[in-house]
Amino acid sequence: MVQNLYSELVIEHFQHPRNVGTISDADASAMMESPVCGDLMEIYLKIQGGRVEDAKFRTFGCGAAIASSSMATEMVKGKTLAEALALTDEQVAEALGGLPPQKMHCSNLAASTIHRALEAYLETHPEAREQNKERTR
Ligand code: FES
Repeated sequence: MVQNLYSELVIEHFQHPRNVGTISDADASAMMESPVCGDLMEIYLKIQGGRVEDAKFRTFGCGAAIASSSMATEMVKGKTLAEALALTDEQVAEALGGLPPQKMHCSNLAASTIHRALEAYLETHPEAREQNKERTR
């Protein structure tokens, strides 16, 4: 039964996902494929003044993928790039009140996809890389 597998928060984020969609003028974006089921996760970020100003996602995944993407995008909004890079898939699962073990590596890809987008952004924005280093010192 769904209620036994998933926390109330997972179900709530699945039923009312935050930040669904794309950002047409995104500063950073990335896509990852679930290594387990092959479903896809897309992340779009707007970056302003060294912070994640906006974050959106699209996923062709299951309810757990929708809930973890919704939570992860909420968690990185307003964060510095260093803070957003420090967010882990485990922290996202924890913030959701946990995920079933079989869903952890299958559906919980949002933080990893956010890292991929930010790393690509830092590659092409050396000034942001320097700022990011200073903030982590
Ligand atoms: Fe594919 Fe969850 S079953 S993302």
